[in-house]
Amino acid sequence: IATIEDEAEYQDTKYACQRRTPLKHHNKIFTDALEVLEKNADYTGGDQDYSRALAFRRASASLKSLPHTVTSMRDVANLKDIGKHCKDVIREILEKGYSTEIEDIKSSEWFKTIQLFVGIYGCGPATARKWYNMGYRTLEDIKKSTTIHLTADQRNGIRFYDDLQTPVIRREAEAIRNFIIEEIKEISNDFTVVITGGFIRGKDSGHDVDLLMSHPDNGKEKGVLQKLITNLKQKNLLLECSLQANTFHKESLKSPKHYKSSMLDHFEKSLSIFRLEKSMVDKYTSCGGASKTTEKVQGGKSCSSNTKSDDYILKHTDSFDLPKDRTWRAVRVDFVVCPQSQYGYALLGWVGSKMFNRSIRLYADRELGMMLSSHGLYDRINQQYIPASSEQEIFEHLKLTWIEHEDRNC
Ligand code: GTP
Ligand code: MN
Ligand code: MN
Repeated sequence: IATIEDEAEYQDTKYACQRRTPLKHHNKIFTDALEVLEKNADYTGGDQDYSRALAFRRASASLKSLPHTVTSMRDVANLKDIGKHCKDVIREILEKGYSTEIEDIKSSEWFKTIQLFVGIYGCGPATARKWYNMGYRTLEDIKKSTTIHLTADQRNGIRFYDDLQTPVIRREAEAIRNFIIEEIKEISNDFTVVITGGFIRGKDSGHDVDLLMSHPDNGKEKGVLQKLITNLKQKNLLLECSLQANTFHKESLKSPKHYKSSMLDHFEKSLSIFRLEKSMVDKYTSCGGASKTTEKVQGGKSCSSNTKSDDYILKHTDSFDLPKDRTWRAVRVDFVVCPQSQYGYALLGWVGSKMFNRSIRLYADRELGMMLSSHGLYDRINQQYIPASSEQEIFEHLKLTWIEHEDRNC
């Protein structure tokens, strides 16, 4: 039940980063609809469509932080960031329970096909549209095509399509984190590995596991990820990995170009596909096998350093087929390493959501003349960098009320 304070808090804000946006909110029926419009604009892909997609996203964020359910058009009158198009959709849903426009989009062959294709790891809307225009409609079409040249990412995206479309649950994420901690102990002491992304914001499942890694002594984080990746590869636990070096220079903190390329950061990272042995989930989570409330994991060959290298069938074959009786599943894992001096900023960036980041960066720029990224904060007016050792400190520098991780789900 919304209190007067909650309502006042909502009304006082201009940016999503100033409001609490919980995971479970009161207007799902409307935000689901707006998310279809956002996707549709995003898939279409022009510059104008990009702005339209953002506008739908902002409208949806506004509804998510509203402390009550919209029940009439009177409620919508004082809502933030809701344009005419969104109002029309909301009105129709209030009247009929659904929106014709949304239903039409969802049932269109174009939308369904693009949605299918962008679900392939390594395939964005532009590629999806190209394939659609070439006449392809199904994954089978893509597999059989002799004209398409698939990238390595896309091949794996198709090969592991079902696995990567199956949400990662929290227990799997925790097992992977705990396992990685064990692995890192062999390389470096005191390394910290934190699950960020959707899970830290309270989601029960997600499309990947985001791991932020650091060492308490600034500089000692260097080289560790490379060794970790090498070891994991040796144990056949990575189905795909690409190691990106750290490309950060302090000067880039104040360059507008850096600000514009917005969401991407310059940390050393590996966006990988992890081969999760199902037996690892019990072995590496605290409740372990004792928890009978959760689904029993089948199979159970232990995953350890003695996995034979011919188990790693996928590397040497061109086939898209996976063995029927496999004891593992593919999971997308993002490994990110940051130096201790940038930890607060890196954490803020990797907690997300993407929309929250967009909003807080825009706020810093517009309201304070400051440039915020996952690496730091630069005060353009006083021409100085502002260090921070925690997220709390960053919020203070930005004169923002603290927002809990679970309340950044815009
Ligand atoms: P699910 O994975 O679907 O649960 O949602 P998520 O919020 O975890 O999304 P995702 O894994 O895509 O991103 C996690 C956070 O990392 C988001 O807030 C991104 O904005 C943030 N992020 C920061 N820097 C980067 C970057 O360089 N690349 C990517 N991909 N994400 C980044
Ligand atoms: Mn994630
Ligand atoms: Mn991610």
